[in-house]
Amino acid sequence: MKHFLEIADWTSDDLWDMLRLAVALKAEYRKRGNAPLFAGKALAMVFQKPSLRTRVSFEMAMQHLGGHALYLSPQEIGLGKRESGADIARVLAGYVDIIMARTFAHQHILDLAQWSPIPVINGLTDYNHPCQGMTDYLTIYEEFGQLDGLHLAYLGDSNNVLTSLLMGAAQFGLKVTVGSPAGYQPKPAVLDAARALSGGSLDVSITDDPVAAIEGADVVYTDTWTSMGQEAETEQRRLVFPPFQVNEDLLSHAADHAIVLHCLPAHRGEEITDAVADGPQSRLFPQAENRLHAQKAILVTLVNQEAGTMAKKGSKDDKKDKKSKKDKKDKKDKK
Ligand code: CP
Ligand code: NVA
Repeated sequence: MKHFLEIADWTSDDLWDMLRLAVALKAEYRKRGNAPLFAGKALAMVFQKPSLRTRVSFEMAMQHLGGHALYLSPQEIGLGKRESGADIARVLAGYVDIIMARTFAHQHILDLAQWSPIPVINGLTDYNHPCQGMTDYLTIYEEFGQLDGLHLAYLGDSNNVLTSLLMGAAQFGLKVTVGSPAGYQPKPAVLDAARALSGGSLDVSITDDPVAAIEGADVVYTDTWTSMGQEAETEQRRLVFPPFQVNEDLLSHAADHAIVLHCLPAHRGEEITDAVADGPQSRLFPQAENRLHAQKAILVTLVNQEAGTMAKKGSKDDKKDKKSKKDKKDKKDKK
């Protein structure tokens, strides 16, 4: 069984299939609503951190597909505190068909997945945010009709969102420039993993010069300077990040046709200004809406492959069963 924990776990063909499925499900939803592919199915959503988009888009995705979603707040589940991920996964599997979890430590989602008999989706960890990454590439694809060869510039903190963008760039063939202050640049292990994933073809460069990073970019991306869990560093971070703010002046160095993306929530006046967030190049809200469509594609892909595995297992069990019945019958006939 395959979980959705990292973009890097899937081939670029699989990821393209998911993007195309997202486009189809979006069109279907807008035209006549989605078919009830998830009738009788339920998703458990386990959160260690707050959320607007992830929670609501998954909940509505399940509703549109005819299924049901349960929100489990940080207080009630106590993942890793009240109960281990290993136990939670096996208990939930007795009640629901899929788990989506948002955790602090990436190890927590790995533990859930390792023990879970049902598919697990990563709804953000301190390491990555693959559902966001798929949404972002869906949004870019819709805008440009292609991904290969585009230039994405990421400005700000090299965080979980950037990890997934880099893995996606490796799979979809974009060039990435990262503008981050020293000390907040991508970890060598993340860059090595993205390069390895692309078979060495990923064109990625890191600079502490925001203008050099954004020069000529087709897509400009930024995110909060202080991610959830890093609140104690807020003031220290406010000292080093201002030159990387995506404002009209910095944006003027990108291509004229450039679009601006932000996973949200935005800290207006910090990593992005109102003029850019609400300006003509902003795609922030179509991007937020696309969480719904990209995640429907992820859910459907996981459930379909699960159904395929169960069908194969079923036919093997069936054959075994028939064989043992036949053996018994043969023995009886010999007597
Ligand atoms: N972008 C995103 O994941 O938003 P939430 O934290 O509100 O879910
Ligand atoms: N980097 C941000 C993303 C929020 C969706 C965080 O982890 O808080």
